[in-house]
Amino acid sequence: MPINLRGRSVLTLDDLTPGEIRFLLQLGSELKAAKAAGTEQQRLLRRNIALIFEKDSTRTRTGFEVAAYDQGAHVTFLGPSGSHIGHKETMKDTARVLGRMYDAIEYRGFGQPVVEQLAKYAGVPVYNGLTDQSHPTQILADFMTMREFTHKHLSDLVLTFLGDGRDNVALSLAIGAAKVGMEMRIASPKALWPDASFMAHFKDLAKDTGARLMVTESVDEAVKGADFLYTDVWLSMGEDEAEWGKRIEQLTPYRITSAVMAASGNPYVKFMHCLPAFHNAETSVGADIVKRFGVDCMEVTDEVFESSASIVFDQAENRMHSIKAILVATIGS
Ligand code: CP
Ligand code: NVA
Repeated sequence: MPINLRGRSVLTLDDLTPGEIRFLLQLGSELKAAKAAGTEQQRLLRRNIALIFEKDSTRTRTGFEVAAYDQGAHVTFLGPSGSHIGHKETMKDTARVLGRMYDAIEYRGFGQPVVEQLAKYAGVPVYNGLTDQSHPTQILADFMTMREFTHKHLSDLVLTFLGDGRDNVALSLAIGAAKVGMEMRIASPKALWPDASFMAHFKDLAKDTGARLMVTESVDEAVKGADFLYTDVWLSMGEDEAEWGKRIEQLTPYRITSAVMAASGNPYVKFMHCLPAFHNAETSVGADIVKRFGVDCMEVTDEVFESSASIVFDQAENRMHSIKAILVATIGS
């Protein structure tokens, strides 16, 4: 049966079948090639897209904006202040207003139920641009990037995430892995492991795809034979800043260093990160952490981040191409 995503929302990767994920990855690659060749066809003419951001963003916001502009659509950015959302108007009412004006809505914010409510009442496709629980558009860009850096099928790959195993990106990578039949490993202290219901959900999805899940405290076990090592910030947006000290203590053994890359035993292993990353002290937050905790980096060393094994900026670029694929597939002509 041909794949047809017209009118569909993407709130988590659970919303997409394995075939639909592969379709979007392929479409993203085709749109990327067409842009490079100067042959891109505009399929979003006369479309208007609302972009709601209750948290900060560089890649997701610009990815949606450039994808829309390339394809002939218009966007409206609604930031954490400047609209009535939340303080004077409910998401349910906002959804019904924006759904009358826009062809689609992107939402970045806190709880997953908020984006679900938006989708329930908007009557137009809604895309999750990150919630505390889920970051589906990131994972499409990541899988697209992995395909560019390996000759293996996605189902033959081993992807290891090191860090907070309850992190939105880690959990979304795992759902993506389960959908495409990949081997997903999470190296994390036990206190930060995904909960039992999540692991049961992975196993359930894996029944149809042959995906494998390893959750371990052992970095060595998790990275051995891996194709890609992935990490994320140790404290996500919206988490309590007072947690920094505890997280640094818990997660320092899970930092990606050159020794960890070498422990994979794979000379072609690649380093991935959704970004932004704390790999040096050259940001105000990074400098503050150095001052307070005496560490010069967190989840990854500057050496690994800047190495030839690092494909983080390819991931960042692919945010735009893969978001474009979602827009074209769901509201394109
Ligand atoms: N990776 C990612 O979502 O980046 P932004 O926070 O910059 O959008
Ligand atoms: N886990 C991070 C991802 C940022 C793209 C956060 O939620 O802040």
